[in-house]
Amino acid sequence: MTTIGIDAIALAVPQGYLELADLAAARGVPAGKYVEGLGVRQMAVAAAHEDPVALAANAARRLFAQSGRSPSEIGLCVVGTETAVDHSKPIAAYLHGLLGLPSRCRVFEAKHACFGGTAGLLGAVDWIAAGKMSGNGKPRVALVVCTDVARYGLGTAGEPTQGAGAVAMIVSERPRLVELEVGVSGSYARDVHDFWRPLHSKEAVVDGHHSVACYLDALAGAFDAWREASSDKSVVRTCYHVPYGKMAKKAHKHRLGLEGREAELEASYEKEVAPSLRFPSLVGNVYTGSLYLALASLLDAEAAQLEGERIGLFSYGSGCTAEFFSGRIAAGAGKMVEQLALAAPLDARTRLSVAEYEAIRNADGGVDRAPVGTLPAPSLSQRTVAYLGIESDRRVYAN
Ligand code: CAA
Repeated sequence: MTTIGIDAIALAVPQGYLELADLAAARGVPAGKYVEGLGVRQMAVAAAHEDPVALAANAARRLFAQSGRSPSEIGLCVVGTETAVDHSKPIAAYLHGLLGLPSRCRVFEAKHACFGGTAGLLGAVDWIAAGKMSGNGKPRVALVVCTDVARYGLGTAGEPTQGAGAVAMIVSERPRLVELEVGVSGSYARDVHDFWRPLHSKEAVVDGHHSVACYLDALAGAFDAWREASSDKSVVRTCYHVPYGKMAKKAHKHRLGLEGREAELEASYEKEVAPSLRFPSLVGNVYTGSLYLALASLLDAEAAQLEGERIGLFSYGSGCTAEFFSGRIAAGAGKMVEQLALAAPLDARTRLSVAEYEAIRNADGGVDRAPVGTLPAPSLSQRTVAYLGIESDRRVYAN
């Protein structure tokens, strides 16, 4: 039987980032609360031209360039986001144009808070398993892009857990990175008000400590369901949804408790979870892409040594729904990861001051109505796709 899974991954992050120690100083909070207490070091800050469409398009461009795949191969394009730019037109439609995808292509946006990207990924796996990839006379693959800008109010408890970025993935047969176990997954859902973003607001509303409890309940439900679905209960690494690094540690502790392995927490966390947290600690919460940023981090650190090994993946979307699923690192993944140069976008960023960050955030409200020519000019040498503003109620992009 053929394998199905993640063939390639690429990231796009904003040009600017904030050191969380700088934010802590400005808010009169000990830096230790953010850095050790929450497990966050830097957070990406999206400028006006780095909207979710631009981030998604830049991640996908990089994906094609690094993986050797071509837009002409795409038969399904799904964008997971909770930072939609329109009530009707999906980001996937913008991508279809900006990337030059084929007209014979299924294109849509998926939403369930941070679960939207996983909904896209699992839907793409089903699409391939259903044999759709062989339409149009040649083999086709799926493009799944997770893109978000996480915003909480300035000075709120959620502020240090912001972030922004996009993760683009090719989903295919005989994948070169992760072979997913089709049908081996556990899901969970419950109607809760832990985190949401009302229609009138660009910023999320969150019941912070309740959201942590909802996440842990969902993990327990999804993990139990996965254990029922899977004959083999073991994985050597687990990537969790990472709103902030400490949440992944809390999740791992909770999960070890379910397995009766509490005593192993520190050693198990260092080995099984910590390698996946480096990228998230440099970018912050990217909502739908957060689990896949963690996966990219794990692959970047350990793909070669983990070839053939089984990993677990936990996706959580507030509101809420969750899924625990599993897969195996593909033979040759180490070489593929070298080719993808996953960390490169993180190495070329600019440190912002708190004043620069606050200026960007304070201008946020007007960005979706700004006429073309009125927003700060993007540096196009660094961004191939950039949001330029509005013309006749249409969003305009430099491409
Ligand atoms: N040095 C070291 N550690 C310190 C410290 C210091 N000086 N001061 C405090 N700490 C520790 C605390 O002990 C605490 O650790 P534990 O959680 O292990 O007990 C940690 O720092 C955080 O302290 P508080 O709980 O007091 O922090 P807070 O109440 O101000 O904010 C939060 C925490 C509620 C999670 C807030 O950041 C928040 O609302 N974040 C957004 C919501 C969120 O991310 N929820 C996660 C689950 S929902 C989800 O996953 C979906 C999603 O993507 C949003």
